[in-house]
Amino acid sequence: MTARLIEGKQVAAVIRTSVAARVAALPYRPGLAVVLIGDDPASVTYVRTKDKAARQTGIDARTFHLPAETTQAALLEKIEVLNADPAVDGILVQLPLPRHLDPTVSVEAIDPAKDVDGLHPVNVGRLASGRPRLVPCTPLGVMRLLTHYEVPLEGANALVLGRSVLVGRPLVALLLGANATVTVAHSHTANLIEECQRADILIAAIGQAEMVRGDWIKPAAVVVDVGINRLTDGRLVGDVAYEECAKVAGAITPVPGGVGPMTIACLLENTVAAAEWRRRQD
Ligand code: GUN
Repeated sequence: MTARLIEGKQVAAVIRTSVAARVAALPYRPGLAVVLIGDDPASVTYVRTKDKAARQTGIDARTFHLPAETTQAALLEKIEVLNADPAVDGILVQLPLPRHLDPTVSVEAIDPAKDVDGLHPVNVGRLASGRPRLVPCTPLGVMRLLTHYEVPLEGANALVLGRSVLVGRPLVALLLGANATVTVAHSHTANLIEECQRADILIAAIGQAEMVRGDWIKPAAVVVDVGINRLTDGRLVGDVAYEECAKVAGAITPVPGGVGPMTIACLLENTVAAAEWRRRQD
């Protein structure tokens, strides 16, 4: 059997068109501020992609590219200015930050109503308690993909491989909210392969190139690969050994072109949602 391809790029395009229509119907332009500190090449590329996608959707995107030497105080001051700016609906501080800056302190300074990354403790707590408001974009994108492809979630064994704040943990909450039976596996998990073999839905977000092998996959399982790893030969691969796993899985996401475009589409969706909520309350 060869797995059905889960085409994130196409689903993301559908979402982007619908966000653009929502934006066009608003009496104002939602504003998105992206804060990038330093010159990490991957971050520079990601931020450029986010900025461009937002503009194409009609969102007023502004990137603030600050030098790598920016102090914590200067970053907090920048975030305060953006919090107070009524034209800014969404604020995103691109991670990872240079080592001298504290990501927790920085993210906690963002107004939770403008936290389009869903990383502020208020938004994390809302999601954890089953009352989500702004949800991290990558996990939201994964859920949108599963819904789009009508993957049955209720009662399904879902395995989340990875427990990061950005992806693994919010995914657990979202899958629980959809009534899946959720297992979280990570670097200390005993019997990792057996855990994977039980999964009807396997979501890999562990940051290890091609770690998940074909014989880890339950026949006909749905495999979602959140990983994006560059090999020494320059190739981009996920956390899943694609060729092997595609022979066993029922459906699988490619890398690139799977989850990545969904992250961007969900950022745009979050920005419009943040604008609608906040401006309704003003
Ligand atoms: N770096 C990698 N992914 C993300 C993300 O979703 N949000 C932010 N802020 N930084 C990231």
